[in-house]
Amino acid sequence: MNILVTGGAGYIGSHTCIALLEAGHQVVIADDFSNSDEKALEAIGTITGKDFKFYQVNVARFHRLEKAFTEQKIDGVIHFAGFKAVGESVENPLDYYANNLKSTITLLKLCRKYKVQQFVFSSSATVYGDGEVPFVETQNLKPATNPYGETKVMNEKILKDYAKANPEFAVILLRYFNPVGAHPSGLIGEHPRGIPNNLMPYITQVAKGLRDQLYVFGDDYDTVDGTGVRDYIHVMDLAEGHVQAMEHLQKGWDVVNLGTGKGTSVLELVRAFEKVNEIEVPYSIAPRREGDIALCYADTQKAQRVLGWRAKRNVEDMCRDAWQFEKNNRHEGQ
Ligand code: WQD
Repeated sequence: MNILVTGGAGYIGSHTCIALLEAGHQVVIADDFSNSDEKALEAIGTITGKDFKFYQVNVARFHRLEKAFTEQKIDGVIHFAGFKAVGESVENPLDYYANNLKSTITLLKLCRKYKVQQFVFSSSATVYGDGEVPFVETQNLKPATNPYGETKVMNEKILKDYAKANPEFAVILLRYFNPVGAHPSGLIGEHPRGIPNNLMPYITQVAKGLRDQLYVFGDDYDTVDGTGVRDYIHVMDLAEGHVQAMEHLQKGWDVVNLGTGKGTSVLELVRAFEKVNEIEVPYSIAPRREGDIALCYADTQKAQRVLGWRAKRNVEDMCRDAWQFEKNNRHEGQ
């Protein structure tokens, strides 16, 4: 299949392009480089040895994006493009609603015009809010704790309603838990600009000496050791889950968790990282972060039943691959 991957130069998008190309699909990437750069595109080519098409475009721009639909025969879409920083979304809610919703609506208008009926959407476990764990796809969603999470809930609704109005359309909403790690080559990985919001890139930058210590946001949660528990999933497992989703699409809409089903605390992740990479990660306990929840991990039965997919890589693999990328990666302008 010829798959349009929006945000395909980004962290999860680029790893997914590798998995698609290695599974024998063709890839068209649309990305505006607002949170990525051409180094990821070079790495995709180097790692796979395969060609792909690229359009530097903001997905919300109808006529600019239409070029990809008129010049390429698109069979399906995997939609990653969107702003994704929780804290930033609280400061700039209008930018988040405008960009994240307009991108999806524009894309669907083009799918309708060019009769593209296969769609996989990058959603997030954040839609579950502070609900009952393990999170299962059928449970009621709690209000998201930030505008970023709200845009995921709203995009899921837009896609469900579009699928109801267009019976030939097939969409799977993939709810990711906490993607971490990197391709084992060390050529591609998570490279946040500025101070990392997320835990793993912060740990790798401390290990590299770019930051003096990790601040653990609270150790008084009702968890195994008081620190936040999350379902970390290797980005390559996540990428392979997208290939399975694209290949298992059925008419209508469906929603599937992509997680490991295993919860790991902040301190457990730090210790695993130190052990696997034989390196120290100094840390201190800091106050809780606004909007954080104590526990978040997936019920993974549906992914196995519907996609024939389950995560294969463990926390040690995630720590090893994340560190491998950090060591290889030149950090400009910290
Ligand atoms: C994990 C744990 C923190 C940083 C968010 C989004 C989610 C997805 C992934 C986009 C928590 C603790 C973190 C630090 C810390 N994003 N922590 N010190 O918040 O679970 O999920 O990112 O799709 O939608 O909500 O991920 O990595 O920020 O935090 O102690 O410097 O690490 O409190 O318990 P989170 P995270």
